This record gives sequence, structure tokens and C-alpha cells, in this order.
Amino acid sequence: MSKHLIALVPGDGIGPEVVGETQKVCEAAAGKFGFELEWKHFPFGASYYLENNVVLPESALDDMAECRAMLLGAVGDPRVKPGPLEQGLLLKLRFHFDQYLNLRPALSFPNVPTPVALTEGRRLDSVVVRENTEDLYMGLGGRGRGVIEEALETKRGLYELSGNIDLRFAPAQDAAFSLGLMTRPGVARITRKAGDLARERGEKKVFIVSKANAVPHLYGFWDEVTRATMESEYPDLEAAFVNVDAMCYLLPRQPHDYGVLLCPNLFGDIVSDLLSALAGGLGLAASGNIGDGLSMFEPVHGSAPTIAGTGKANPLAAILSGAMLLKHIGEAEAAAAVEKAVFDYLSGPDKPFELGGADNLTVVGDKVAGLIK
Ligand code: NAD
Ligand code: IPM
Ligand code: MN
Repeated sequence: MSKHLIALVPGDGIGPEVVGETQKVCEAAAGKFGFELEWKHFPFGASYYLENNVVLPESALDDMAECRAMLLGAVGDPRVKPGPLEQGLLLKLRFHFDQYLNLRPALSFPNVPTPVALTEGRRLDSVVVRENTEDLYMGLGGRGRGVIEEALETKRGLYELSGNIDLRFAPAQDAAFSLGLMTRPGVARITRKAGDLARERGEKKVFIVSKANAVPHLYGFWDEVTRATMESEYPDLEAAFVNVDAMCYLLPRQPHDYGVLLCPNLFGDIVSDLLSALAGGLGLAASGNIGDGLSMFEPVHGSAPTIAGTGKANPLAAILSGAMLLKHIGEAEAAAAVEKAVFDYLSGPDKPFELGGADNLTVVGDKVAGLIK
């Protein structure tokens, strides 16, 4: 019997709750399809940080690298100011393992009410192809009063980067900056992922989300490299450029008109939450952070601290991320069975709290696990 070693990072808030239900469902699928899952647990998150003053020990990265894939819940806790946990754990993992593709599908689900009515007979079937290592997420920045001098240093799968920033204000200002940065190979490789996916889906276009009008250095470069890659390698596909503000206007008006949305890191983050709302809820939105090494699967949502411990969290986003993980490790039948079980559950009379029903977290997990065929 084949056995897969899976790294498990439950994280904070509702993270451990939704991850627990995902393990339950994935185990049920493994039992049905004749393989084993071994979970390697990593206790990182707010409590670990507060106890040890370390977000993620370097040695853990080597242990993680031995795993076939990772399942992550969510990171972020009101006891820690925004930044250190998200950057030190979640973003660190994306960058360290060079998970440059963040794939975030948004689908219509049976019986799930949506805030915008879809045209009769049409479904929502979009996917955000989000660049996951560059843009304003470089983590490079600083602050100062009058003078900002900052030595910058970072590392990506594609390169190491170092240099100095020296900014002077007259008159002196209390100020901060963050550096947004993209490289040609970084943009070209994500464009190829979008192009390949559009072909696989039988689409005619890729929508390229940008903002070159206001930020021409960064997003003008994005436009240039995505356009050149599309023209030379995907001449069969149209590259349709849409500014991110217009995209946020158009999506709620005609949610079903957009297939593959190629986005820089920051816009991809924002557009995927918008799409999740159009699909019916963050509790349904799955994602994969995919690279050539360890890939990491996690719901689009965060740790939702205000509902943690109440049983109100919808575990379906994490469960569907678990299905993406199963597919990634070569268990396509099991993955399809998990997806079908989620659809079958939603097609029935019951619903999670988030969608107006009465089923709490564990009830949803039990019912979906029971529907694996
Ligand atoms: P959030 O996604 O945690 O919550 C946004 C809203 O959606 C809240 O109203 C929440 O209750 C609701 N929600 C989210 N997931 C739900 C689910 N499964 N079922 C039902 N309702 C759900 O975003 P936020 O409030 O901006 O962030 C909270 C914390 O999570 C912050 O610390 C943030 O940095 C972190 N965060 C982490 C990730 C991640 O680990 N991938 C993603 C986003 C936010
Ligand atoms: C997400 C989150 C993260 C992001 C945060 C927590 C750093 O919002 O995974 O969507 O911005 O990528
Ligand atoms: Mn987000």
C-alpha cells in the first residue's frame, strides 16, 4: 500500500479546527482508495511564537522538505501584531519552497446562495493564477524620520537580492516605504502557468489584472513581460488586460464571464477574496501554493479569530484544499471523491452555519467524510 508523508501546519484560530476536519475527510478517502496518509505535525503559530520567541526554526524547513506536500490551516492571532507571523511563517514557506503559483479556483456550488444572481444556466468557474513570490510581498522596506537608510537583503528561488536604500526628506518627515519588485523570469513563469491552464480549460483568453496606469514602473513591467510571453508562447490565446479597479467592478456584475485571471501577488490576494464572496463564502474557497519542490495547500481564508472555538467555521474550504493536495500527490480518484462528497453534501438539505444552515464544523466534516464513495 502506498504511503504519503504530509506536513501539517494547523496554525492559529480556526486553522486547527478546519485542518482537523480535512484530515478526517482525507483519511476516509485514503481508506476507500487504498493508500495511507502519515501526518507530520508542526506546531507553529502564535502560541509557539509567544512561548519560544521564534516563528519558524530553520531546522523545521528541512523536515518539511521531506514531505510529499503540506496542509496548512491559517496563520494570524490578535495577540501578535499583524506581520511577524504571516511573514515569518506563511510567506516564509511560500518563498523558501519557491511556491510561485498560487492557484485559487472560484466555483458555483449547489444550493449555495450567492450575493449576485447569476444568469440562468451559467455557473461561476474562475480561477485566480496568482504570482506568489514577488510584487509588494518582497518584504523589503523600512521607516525613518527625515532619513531612511535601509540595507535590504532577501532570497528567492530565482535569485538573491541585496542593496541599500537611502532616502532623504526635506523638510524631515516621519515616513515608511515598501519595495514592490518583479523580475522577468518571475513574471514569465507565472504567465506560462496561466497560459497552460487556459489551454487545458479550453479558454480563448487570459485576463491579465494590472494597474500600469498608476504604477507604471512595476505594473508596466508586468504588462510588458506577460504580453511578450503570451505573444511568443501562447499565440492561440488572447491576452486581455484589465485594471484591478475595473476588475473589481466587472466581476460582481458578470461573475461568470471570467475564466483565468492572471494576477500579481497583491491583486491576486484581493481578487480571490472578492471571487470567494461571489461564489458564496470564504469557507468554500480552496487554494494551492505550488512550486517545483514542496507544495502547500490551504484555504484562502485566514484564522477568523472571532469565530474560533465556536464551531461556526466552515471547513469546506480546507477540505477542498485537501482535495487539491490529494490530486497533487497523484491520488486523483480520491481527490475527485472528496470534491464529489462536498457537492453531494451541499446538494442535500443541510448546510454549514456560514451558509445559513445549522451544521457546525465537526458535523460538516463527519457528513462529508460519510459521503466519500
Ligand atoms: P479572515 O479570512 O480570517 O476572515 C474574514 C471574514 O471571513 C471574517 O468575518 C471571518 O469570520 C470569516 N471567515 C473566514 N473563514 C471562515 C470560515 N471558514 N467559515 C466561516 N467564516 C469564515 O480574514 P481577516 O479577518 O482579515 O484575518 C484574520 C487573521 O487571519 C489575521 O491575522 C490575518 O493576517 C490572518 N490571515 C491568514 C491567512 C492565511 O493564513 N492564509 C489568510 C488571511 C488572513
Ligand atoms: C492569503 C493571506 C496572506 C496573503 C496574508 C495572511 C499574508 O491574505 O493567503 O490570502 O496576503 O497572501
Ligand atoms: Mn488573502
